[in-house]
Amino acid sequence: MIYNLYFHLRFYYPYFVGMANESLYIMLMNWFKIADKIEQLNLSAEGLAEIEVSGKKICISVKNDSIQACAAKCPHAGGIMANGYVDALGNIVCPLHRYCFSLQNGRNTSGEGYFLKVYPVETRPEGIFVGIKENNLFNW
Ligand code: FES
Repeated sequence: MIYNLYFHLRFYYPYFVGMANESLYIMLMNWFKIADKIEQLNLSAEGLAEIEVSGKKICISVKNDSIQACAAKCPHAGGIMANGYVDALGNIVCPLHRYCFSLQNGRNTSGEGYFLKVYPVETRPEGIFVGIKENNLFNW
């Protein structure tokens, strides 16, 4: 009995806590409609566009019908991400020094140790939405 309890806590507790954190994170988002359809996004030949949402400049990437969003400027030296491209692995490549970032989690996949802010994107029947975390007392 005690072993079973230990087993369940050890293996399932992190999973439930992770789910709860993720749900809370999504709930604290403000969702902004950026377009009705992908065609309205004014994408470059590389499938990238820079837009402004709620006073923030954001880079939108569309590749293979997958829509992702990240910060408009590179965390290294401010390169304009919308002028870069998305490589075959789905990483966005900065046009200035070619550092690569995962569009899934913002990790600097070329290994320089930077982090690119990414935003969740949802395609709903009403249009395409980007989630931006609310600015409040706890958002330092
Ligand atoms: S400014 Fe983006 S890699 Fe240097």
